[in-house]
Amino acid sequence: MAKILLTGGAGYIGSHTYVGLVEAGYDVVILDNFSNAKADVPARLERITGQPVTVYRGDVLDRALLDRVFAEHRIDGVVHFAALKAVGESTQRPLDYIHTNVGGLLTLLSAMDAAGVRRIVFSSSATVYGETDIQPIPEDHPRTYTSPYAYTKITGELTLEQVVAADPRWAVGVLRYFNPVGAHKSALIGEDPADLPNNLMPYIAKVATGDLPRLRVFGDDYDTPDGTGVRDYIHVEDLADGHVLSIAALIETGESHAVNLGTGKGSSVLDVIRAYSEACGRDLPYDIVGRRDGDVAVLTARPEKARDVLGFEAKRSLEDMCRSSWAWVSGQLSNDLKP
Ligand code: WQD
Repeated sequence: MAKILLTGGAGYIGSHTYVGLVEAGYDVVILDNFSNAKADVPARLERITGQPVTVYRGDVLDRALLDRVFAEHRIDGVVHFAALKAVGESTQRPLDYIHTNVGGLLTLLSAMDAAGVRRIVFSSSATVYGETDIQPIPEDHPRTYTSPYAYTKITGELTLEQVVAADPRWAVGVLRYFNPVGAHKSALIGEDPADLPNNLMPYIAKVATGDLPRLRVFGDDYDTPDGTGVRDYIHVEDLADGHVLSIAALIETGESHAVNLGTGKGSSVLDVIRAYSEACGRDLPYDIVGRRDGDVAVLTARPEKARDVLGFEAKRSLEDMCRSSWAWVSGQLSNDLKP
């Protein structure tokens, strides 16, 4: 069976994609510097899959390490997650973001080319579309960056387009995520932010466990049904399935693609609070405060192209997302309490 290199494979989406690939019969090698992943994730992945995990601890910027990986394993394709991913943080650390996200991709592509590996799935983001009233957003919407993070994702996409145009031996899958949330059904892996979460669901999760007192709802004066922000939340296990379909398509057809990974359905902040309150069995406390800089009212995906090109359709509901998140964080709670 084909062997896949997963950069950033110990991270949130990477670890779920690892499980999806193994369950689809792929051999998988993880490269991760564990800058945003707990050291025990590989052990948890072994518990879920029942198989030993091959992990190279290191950085995607380390060309010598990449060359070693490609020398020690016959890799058929790469799924590239390893990157810095916080929009707000990127405005404080633009050079770090460009060095890691763009430099890391360039280092990886050079190592792949030298090893004759020319199938790559690139982790991109709806943020490449910038602020737009065109909702749901189609893939041919113009790209414009509104943060250094978005700049690195657009630059990554443009770089890959140039590589494919210059050398048709390459096949590239660009996957633009909307709002990934939730956790694996085993409750053994999930979103595990090291610091105070910026994103809605991990913040709500910490309110549900009592780690944080209340949620701030950033504005209820948007032009949406209940005034709060509307987003296209997608279960991380659906997202993982999308990656498995993407790398399989590249290996089987050699045809490149760029698709949204979303549900096409929008949920408001209050919808999420209601669903999470249902999942955890208590009404979660929140306050309506002012809008957050940079937020838009609505951000939802046109999901049809992923269905037509990859046969991908998100299956899990907002309730599934909240239930799986609550099982993960409350399981952690009990784990933390265990002697
Ligand atoms: C969702 C909604 C907030 C926190 C970001 C990045 C995007 C992608 C996904 C990388 C909004 C509201 C949030 C809170 C709130 N990341 N909210 N209180 O901003 O849609 O997307 O994460 O690719 O690039 O921009 O996600 O979860 O931060 O916000 O009311 O404490 O929840 O205003 O309406 P966002 P989010």
